Amino acid sequence: MATGLSPRRPMLYGGLLGSGSAMLQAFAASVLRPIAASLPLLALCGELSANEIQKGEYLARAADCVGCHTSNPSRLFAGGYRVPTPFGDVYSTNITPEHDTGIGGYSEDEFVRAVREGVRRDGTDLYPAMPYDSFARMSRDDVLAIRTYLLAQTPIIQPRPRNTLPFPFNQRWALRLWKLANYRPGSFTLDRSRTEAWNRGAYLVDVLGHCGACHTPRNVTFGEDDDHKLAGGAAGIWRAFNITGDKTAGIGGWSDDELSRFLKTGAVAGKAFASGPMAETVTNSLQHLSDDDIRAIVAYLRDVPPQSGDEQQPRFSSSGTITASAAEPGNVAQGSTHTAGDLYGSLCSGCHGLNGSGSPDSSYATLPHNSTLGAATSANVVMTILTGVKAGDVAGRKSMAAFADWLDDGQVASLANYVTAHFGNPELSVTAADVRQMRAGSTTEQTVTLLAGQALVMTGAGLSLGLLLLLARRSRPAARLSDFMSAHRDTQ
Ligand code: HEC
Ligand code: HEC
Ligand code: HEC
Repeated sequence: MATGLSPRRPMLYGGLLGSGSAMLQAFAASVLRPIAASLPLLALCGELSANEIQKGEYLARAADCVGCHTSNPSRLFAGGYRVPTPFGDVYSTNITPEHDTGIGGYSEDEFVRAVREGVRRDGTDLYPAMPYDSFARMSRDDVLAIRTYLLAQTPIIQPRPRNTLPFPFNQRWALRLWKLANYRPGSFTLDRSRTEAWNRGAYLVDVLGHCGACHTPRNVTFGEDDDHKLAGGAAGIWRAFNITGDKTAGIGGWSDDELSRFLKTGAVAGKAFASGPMAETVTNSLQHLSDDDIRAIVAYLRDVPPQSGDEQQPRFSSSGTITASAAEPGNVAQGSTHTAGDLYGSLCSGCHGLNGSGSPDSSYATLPHNSTLGAATSANVVMTILTGVKAGDVAGRKSMAAFADWLDDGQVASLANYVTAHFGNPELSVTAADVRQMRAGSTTEQTVTLLAGQALVMTGAGLSLGLLLLLARRSRPAARLSDFMSAHRDTQ
């Protein structure tokens, strides 16, 4: 640890000096007095270390190391959290200070290399499910503050979980190809022509907050497509919407105050509620940021070049075409004798109201004009019904129950279609088969990405191999020629 001393140590010396035993007094006189003389220094070191830990904690929140490296809240930082990718699931690893299974054995340099370059202590490459392509520009001081904070946590023994990746993605050598195409080392430089808030926002959005890991679309080699920064991407099945300044496809129509409230609480009644991965980001990360930092993020987002999309109108402008009423003879839920309206009336209206108005304090989401219901896909609506929303750890928010175990695929599809038709984008429609795929953790689009990725890695590997063979063959005639020359010279 850089600063060496834990804050508790000066107190330990204090307790020892207060002991009444004669032997201890003699000991104190001969040995401890010089130490006592340096107590103010020790106290100062302790304070510095406490400050460093506090700084590290704030940064670890902003970078969401906490959320992504914790699967069981009582085993903080022990890893095992599932990060879905189109190629399969990657699990985070143990970053508690435990020596063998955690990061206790990492030196400062090894830790900085892991966070900024995605290289494990043993020299193997990490999957970009750990967003080191965003963290690449984190300052060394900030990474070391996070390390100091992590070293102050309880060590937990927790071996590395097994990832569920098919060949060739289970081969870490393939990551070299990915890095070659997508990883750019560098450092964060201040843009003097911009305000301090803008620069702070850039560091929070692009580096620490890794918003682009979800909100930026991926290119053919599955790196972030820099030309379409924050124009909408994916987090597993979930759509992470366009958050550029575009008034129709993005968040150009939100006020600064609405954006700040959304980031800090995950809720803006009559506009948007954060569910799925965004609810986790707000819960584990954004709600802990200072108001100044939230304002800085907003200032920066306002300035991200607008990118248009498929939307004809802003997501939050939709409020359905049918007047909501549970008594209305809606379509019969697929695979059941209940109408979708009956299901909504009995399962959902208790919290959301028959007309979708939520609760007066809006702790239960308002459904008309909700950006998730007005989006161009119902993926997030289906996922909200299946997984519920864990928002209860944010002040003023409540959670929604998960219905995956209570409803079959047809009922989930009917409910999703019912709420989008009544409160959101009436053009949307999902089938029981779509829901079955999403439950299994994939979509047709993802299967295509997986197959394309497999082809790409194999082609990349084939080309590299071909190039190596070619180079090897090239060097052989040259060697023979030089042999010939030297033999010839000898005979001369
Ligand atoms: C989006 C999720 C995510 C976030 C956010 C994240 N990590 Fe990770 N991290 C992972 C995953 C997944 C792995 C394992 C990757 C692998 O096995 O190749 C990992 C691996 C690591 C490792 C390597 C440990 C080892 O020996 O296996 C370190 C160190 C690490 N993360 C530190 C951090 C720190 C520090 C932060 C915050 C600054 C952070 N991570 C944020 C997902 C994340
Ligand atoms: C782990 C993935 C993930 C990360 C990281 C993430 N988001 Fe999101 N974000 C999402 C998803 C998914 C949604 C849609 C949530 C929903 O349907 O309720 C979303 C929604 C949003 C919205 C609302 C858009 C709308 O029109 O409803 C805003 C604003 C937003 N995110 C900003 C950010 C910012 C700023 C960051 C970085 C500090 C960030 N997000 C990081 C996944 C993520
Ligand atoms: C126990 C109360 C409760 C019940 C029952 C409930 N919800 Fe929710 N729902 C919530 C809360 C709370 C939120 C908002 C969470 C937040 O703050 O982000 C929410 C959010 C939503 C959202 C918005 C998600 C987003 O990203 O904007 C949709 C859609 C939704 N619920 C649909 C349903 C449907 C359909 C049912 C019935 C199958 C249902 N809910 C049942 C409490 C409930």
